[in-house]
Order: sequence, then C-alpha cells, then structure tokens
Amino acid sequence: MENKVTQLTTVHQFILDRQNDFPYATGELSRLFRDIILAARIVNRDVNKAGLVDILGNFGSVNVQGEEVKKLDIHANIQFIKALSRGGECAAVISEEDEEISKVNPLGKYIVAMDPLDGSSNIDVNVSIGTIFSIYRRISPIGVDATLEDCLQPGSAQVAAGYILYGSSTMLIYTTGKGVNAFTLDLSIGEFCLSHANITTPNMGSIYSINEGNYKKFPDGVKKYIKYCQDEVKEEKRPYNSRYIGSFVADFHRNLMKGGIYIYPNTSKDPNGKLRLIYECNPMAFLIEQAGGKASDGFRRIMDIKPTELHQRSPVFIGSKEMVEKSEEHMAEFVTPFADKK
Ligand code: AHG
Ligand code: MN
Ligand code: MN
Repeated sequence: MENKVTQLTTVHQFILDRQNDFPYATGELSRLFRDIILAARIVNRDVNKAGLVDILGNFGSVNVQGEEVKKLDIHANIQFIKALSRGGECAAVISEEDEEISKVNPLGKYIVAMDPLDGSSNIDVNVSIGTIFSIYRRISPIGVDATLEDCLQPGSAQVAAGYILYGSSTMLIYTTGKGVNAFTLDLSIGEFCLSHANITTPNMGSIYSINEGNYKKFPDGVKKYIKYCQDEVKEEKRPYNSRYIGSFVADFHRNLMKGGIYIYPNTSKDPNGKLRLIYECNPMAFLIEQAGGKASDGFRRIMDIKPTELHQRSPVFIGSKEMVEKSEEHMAEFVTPFADKK
C-alpha cells in the first residue's frame, strides 16, 4: 500500500525537501545518497547490457577494446566503492565482494555495508537482480581509519538503508527511519522519480517464498509452517501462493508491495542459513519494520543481533507481521530443530 503520487518529484528534490528526515540533518547523508544513486545509475546501465557483456567475455578475459571484462557483481562493487570514495562522506565500505573492510576516507562520518549485486545467478537469464545498502554512523573519531567496531554495529543502529531493483523497471527504495519511499528510474530524463510514497506492507499476505528444494534439510518448525501455508482453510485464505525468484531483492520487493513472507532458514547443512546479516538481512529488516512488517531469525528480532563477524550469516523470516509471528510460533514448538538430531 502506498499514497498516490500526483506530481513529478526527483529523488534529489525529495531528499532536499525532507532534509529534516535525515538523521543529523547536516547534508552529509544526503551527499552520501547522491553518491549511491550515481553508482546505481551506472550499474543499471551496465546490467541492461548484461547479455552483450557476456558475448564479449567473462571474468578474467579481455574484450575487443582490450579492456578487462569484469563479472557484473565485481564490476558493481567497483562502481559503488569508486563513487563512495570520490564523494568523501563515507569512511569505510563493507561489501559482499571484499573479505576485508575497504577504508576509503578517514574524514568520512558514515559506514556503508552493501551487497553490490544480489541475485547474481539470475544475471545470465534476464531475471530481476538488485543492490542492497545499509548506512551507519561511525563510532570511532573522525580523522582516523574506520575500525572493525564501526562495522560490527547491530541493525538497530542503522541510520538509513535501501535497495535498487533492476527489474522490468529500475527502482530505488529507501528509509531513513521515517517511513519507506520508492522511486522509479525514468530513463527518458535519467532521474529516479517518486512513484510510491509512504509504503506500508499489509499485516497479512497470501504469499510464502522459500527455496523448497532444500525442504529435507529444513528445521522441523519450518517444515510445519510450510504445511500450514499449504493447508486448505478457506476463511484464512489458505493455501497461500508459493513465489520464489531466487533474488532476495526481487522476492522481498514483491512481498513488501503485496504482503507475504520470505524465509531463508538455517538448514542441517548451513546452521546459520545463507543470507548475510550485515548487508542483506539488516537493511531489509529496517525497511520492513519501517513499512509495518517484521524481521526475525525465527526466534528474535534481526536488528537486535550484535554481529561478531563482517560476513556473518543469519536465518531470516521477513515480511508481513502476522505471517512472521505465525512462523515464529511454529519454530518455538521444537526444542531440537531437526528430527534426525533428536
Ligand atoms: P548473491 O547473489 O548476492 O550471492 O545473493 C544470492 C542470495 C539471494 O539473492 C537469494 O535470495 C538467495 O541467495 C537464493 O539462494 P538459493 O539459490 O539457495 O535459493
Ligand atoms: Mn545477495
Ligand atoms: Mn551479491
């Protein structure tokens, strides 16, 4: 659900108009957004040429112009880090593509965590992919290199978060803790324009999204919840529809707009699940809470988890509030998560 948008507002105008929504309102965070948006436009241009780039060569090879061709996720990472280093407001970047923190500017006040290209297995088949970002204020004093402590803050400390969805249209969705707004890229003018104001997600939906190929490895609580989703109970609009794209950004976006639950649980093979806490789970958790939804690891609020490692994983149950709560109830029924471990 969102408020109808009647006049053309670019994202930059919107940020200027809503300057007071930005924590600390000093203009630095809006400049950081400017850098992220610039990189997003470059990545959007390149994502749109993905098929052509593949013809020219893959990672490690050289194209006809003699330039090294990068895999799109590496290329996206370079574009975002370049824009953030050039801009000067960012002290350090945590990226899925880099083992270590990239310390870009000791004078920057902000830490940016990102998944530069999410759903990368879908690039080659022309299916929606995305970029996820999360912004923290640094804890260490300005003027020195950012520290590990700056980068291991809980999700509740985020000052802003969002994603760019490269789909049938390209969208930017973000929050600064004052609601969620979405902007659609108008290619004819090259600007992200406000298209969905003050998005709220329905309390209840009728979509569940999970990779059921892993069913046998799911905890018993998840197996039982899936059965609950599939049960026929007319008054409760069950069975729900199963929808799974395999790009977290795209699955999340559909469920945000329509109502639903996305689950990537822990499995007997991956005890912490697959998705990364700092640059996948936390930013989406911030967005969904701002839209009136909920994000859990099956037992506790995602944004309350204190990370201990940069690339730490977490199970995630995220989406419509009542659906997430129902999945938590199912999880709580089992003391040992896997039948074969009893
Ligand atoms: P990434 O492309 O950044 O590595 O992320 C892939 C993630 C996420 O986008 C998606 O929801 C999930 O992996 C899909 O995993 P499965 O193929 O295991 O379902
Ligand atoms: Mn990802
Ligand atoms: Mn990625």
